[in-house]
Amino acid sequence: MYGNIGTDDPETIESYLKRLPRNAVVVNLGCGPNITRDLHHLARALWRFQFHSTLILADLEIELIKDQVWVPGPAKVRVLAVNAATATQQLGKASADLVVAFGLFGDLSHSTTPKGTGKAAWPAVLCECFELLKSTGAIIVGNSCERQPFEEFKPVLEMAGFSVLHYHESAPIHDSSICGGRRYLAVCRKRDKRAGRNGQRRSPLRRSSQRVRDRKT
Ligand SMILES: C[S@@+](CC[C@H](N)C(=O)[O-])C[C@H]1O[C@@H](n2cnc3c(N)ncnc32)[C@H](O)[C@@H]1O
Repeated sequence: MYGNIGTDDPETIESYLKRLPRNAVVVNLGCGPNITRDLHHLARALWRFQFHSTLILADLEIELIKDQVWVPGPAKVRVLAVNAATATQQLGKASADLVVAFGLFGDLSHSTTPKGTGKAAWPAVLCECFELLKSTGAIIVGNSCERQPFEEFKPVLEMAGFSVLHYHESAPIHDSSICGGRRYLAVCRKRDKRAGRNGQRRSPLRRSSQRVRDRKT
């Protein structure tokens, strides 16, 4: 469908696609280079629900999808080589209305941050998602089986400044999935209302590390 997600997920995902404003920007972070059919489904859904939007398909690996023609699709589709931990450098802060990340956090590459990967890189990537989103934006996260237990993931989401609006679990949509465990889908919004320069907000995690640096200098 839209990725390696759960059977109950398309309905929730579509409910957010349907309410996108005109000229919305949707970022599929860690979109995957080898699920072309699913990415075409997402492009088609945007064509149906909000044609006047931009879909950004972002992954470290884009070789297999960079020359695709996304028809039917929304007005603009961009395929970009992006590291999720530094995504705002290319995409800009407060630029996205919706970020979807299916299976990304359980499969973060070793090159994600210099300090580490796996769970150690969740805060850096979630802070980046926070800063990538507009104040009214939302992130929809799907898991990668046992590598992303929600009881461990949720506190990091909250520390990065998100609150969880919706959570459900269902069976994997692809029977042949290597990772056969139940899937979860969490929809989160930015919790923190304080705006920084240009209306952008820093993730609370980034603000507290900045304070520690300020105290040292
Ligand atoms: C398990 S796959 C999920 C692919 C797809 N979203 C799906 O639903 O099947 C994880 C994807 O995340 C990408 N990825 C891993 N680390 C990344 C990073 N730091 N920045 C961007 N993409 C990354 C991988 O290249 C891979 O395509």
